[in-house]
Amino acid sequence: MEFYLDTAQLHEIQEIASWGVLRGVTTNPSHVAKAGVRNMRAHIQEICWTVDAPISVEVVTTDADEMVHQGLDFATWSPNVVIKLPTIPAGLQAMARITKTTATATCEGCAHFEGCPIRARLAARNQLTRIPEVNATLIFTANQAMLALAAGASYVSPFVGRLDAVGEDGVPLVADIAHILRVQNQPGKIIAAALRHPIHVTAVAKAGAHIATMSYDVLKQLIQHPLTDQGLAGFMADYERSRQQ
Ligand code: E4P
Repeated sequence: MEFYLDTAQLHEIQEIASWGVLRGVTTNPSHVAKAGVRNMRAHIQEICWTVDAPISVEVVTTDADEMVHQGLDFATWSPNVVIKLPTIPAGLQAMARITKTTATATCEGCAHFEGCPIRARLAARNQLTRIPEVNATLIFTANQAMLALAAGASYVSPFVGRLDAVGEDGVPLVADIAHILRVQNQPGKIIAAALRHPIHVTAVAKAGAHIATMSYDVLKQLIQHPLTDQGLAGFMADYERSRQQ
């Protein structure tokens, strides 16, 4: 399973990227507002420079034409941009249209444009012009996921913790979608989202999620165990003692 950070905070992305485990970032308008982002394009380009991996960028409209317009604009910012669209009828329309349109990542305005190795790598493979990928967000039923995939989405994002919060168990939704992808032999990746704690992360991995996206706090909790700290302290103390003998 792949680990994504669900944040727009650069310092969080930089820290977790340094662990070597970060395979993508999901942002949403709430994260962007919380991070106080003024220049969205420059901010997404900075994230791209920090972690050369898929970065979901969400449209801020409920109108299909405007979703297509915003999404195709995002796709020019960086070759790593994945367009995040809400799973509503207008969102399905936009998914279908965007995934039939080519867009070129011009990376205009990027502070790292000159000599960028990410651009160079993708240019060498003729991948700067591509059909943008779509992440269908705000998924709460398997039927919504199937519709999003039928409309062309590459990723579907069931919001596990938000279902738990209204008294439904979110993990079986991930298992249902994973089961459907298997029996239908259908492509598509599940991004288990709105994960609230480490048990969610283990549970969605067992349920078949391809990706788990989570806050910085939850991701940091995954590495922690008091017995690890205690064991390490013991090894270090024994080593020091042996050096002094
Ligand atoms: C996923 O892509 C969403 O950004 C995210 O998981 C939203 O969840 P939350 O705001 O409930 O944490």
